[in-house]
Amino acid sequence: MEHKSCKLPFVRLFYILFLSHLVFCQLDYKYYDSTCPNLTRIVRYGVWSAIANDSRMAASLLRLHFHDCFVNGCDASILLDDIGSTFVGEKNALGNRNSARGYEVIDNIKANVEKACPSTVSCSDILTLAARDAVYFAGGSYWTVPLGRRDGRTANKTAANELPSPFESLDTIIAKFNSKGLDIKDVVVLSGAHTIGFAQCFTFKSRLFNFGGSGKPDPELDASFLKGLQSVCPDQVDSDTNLVPLDSVTSTKFDNSYYKNIVNSSGILQSDQVLGTDNRTASMVLNYNKYPFLFLKDFGASMVKMGNIGVLTGQDGEIRKNCKVVN
Ligand code: HEM
Ligand SMILES: *[C@@H]1O[C@H](CO)[C@@H](O)[C@H](O)[C@H]1NC(C)=O
Ligand SMILES: *[C@@H]1O[C@H](CO)[C@@H](O)[C@H](O)[C@H]1NC(C)=O
Ligand SMILES: *[C@@H]1O[C@H](CO)[C@@H](O)[C@H](O)[C@H]1NC(C)=O
Ligand SMILES: *[C@@H]1O[C@H](CO)[C@@H](O)[C@H](O)[C@H]1NC(C)=O
Ligand SMILES: *[C@@H]1O[C@H](CO)[C@@H](O)[C@H](O)[C@H]1NC(C)=O
Repeated sequence: MEHKSCKLPFVRLFYILFLSHLVFCQLDYKYYDSTCPNLTRIVRYGVWSAIANDSRMAASLLRLHFHDCFVNGCDASILLDDIGSTFVGEKNALGNRNSARGYEVIDNIKANVEKACPSTVSCSDILTLAARDAVYFAGGSYWTVPLGRRDGRTANKTAANELPSPFESLDTIIAKFNSKGLDIKDVVVLSGAHTIGFAQCFTFKSRLFNFGGSGKPDPELDASFLKGLQSVCPDQVDSDTNLVPLDSVTSTKFDNSYYKNIVNSSGILQSDQVLGTDNRTASMVLNYNKYPFLFLKDFGASMVKMGNIGVLTGQDGEIRKNCKVVN
């Protein structure tokens, strides 16, 4: 099972009684309050300046956190570099290679955090805070993040290759979320992250010309919206890496227009549009399309859930000094 819940082995009972702050298996909102009081300020500044330079960075940091948490839990495994033939990281896995971005932003923030509080703050907590701040700076809501995650000493490229793909059925995507302790509502809510950021043409081009071998485009695509996509993503291989905003209406604003687009048959990925047609999810899409604040509130709650997947606490893992390599 990938989904690790907090276990409290009986033999550790005395730790809980006497050293609870150090080893109790749970996250804590005040975790770094005394050991790194400036942490949130340092992270916030690093995220702010990265987005000021490149507005897409908000989306990229958010996605990085998702791709971290779904593989080995939120343990910053995604930040580890390959080292020759001795260490295989996740950066070259299918959904990450030439796609995930923002690593250097986290590495820079980590360097600044190390200056203020050496060997104290995990890369996984920094990434979790950065994703939260990114959504906030993009105009989304703000939520408090429980802290105390520790960094993994391993990566798993095979598991990273199995991150949810836009070509998979909703059943498969739901099953993958379920295996992390997330439910259908979390699928619908967290997919709303696609209200910011970009997708490469190859991730949805199969919908534009010969959908499922029909010789026609996906009938779920609005006709005029389809025309626009076909012009950015013509039916030839050299358009594969062209970029299209996941939300063409307000591509850098974290709002509920992702759901409005789905209702308008203007979802980009097949895995987005299906949420509007499947009877398990369609009513939620309609609700978030109608009630922007409900979406923003639910998004924070689902992000906290996602940020708790398989976390390492207490004596497990380590506090990496450099997010790219294990100590
Ligand atoms: C439900 C299953 C999901 C699928 C199948 C999926 C798939 C994708 C794909 C194919 C892209 C475009 C990548 C590229 O073209 O290089 C993308 C981008 C993105 N995804 Fe997802 N995603 C899913 C869930 C999530 C979740 C849970 C989050 C975060 C909470 C998220 C956040 C993002 C963001 C922000 C981008 C834009 C990144 C950028 O512009 O750098 N996605 N996703
Ligand atoms: C925190 O930041 C403030 C202002 O930036 C600075 O004056 C202070 O020395 C910092 N404290 C620590 C513990 O780094
Ligand atoms: C600013 O963003 C560009 C990409 O848009 C990137 O190449 C560059 O390194 C960034 N500069 C800084 C200082 O982050
Ligand atoms: C890596 O992930 C794969 C696929 O989820 C799993 O079968 C394998 O046991 C994992 N390897 C390790 C060392 O955890
Ligand atoms: C949805 O479609 C309606 C009618 O075509 C249009 O007025 C509205 O702007 C569209 N909304 C979005 C988010 O594309
Ligand atoms: C969805 O539709 C299927 C078949 O049309 C039906 O069996 C199922 O009960 C419906 N589920 C919900 C939640 O409405």
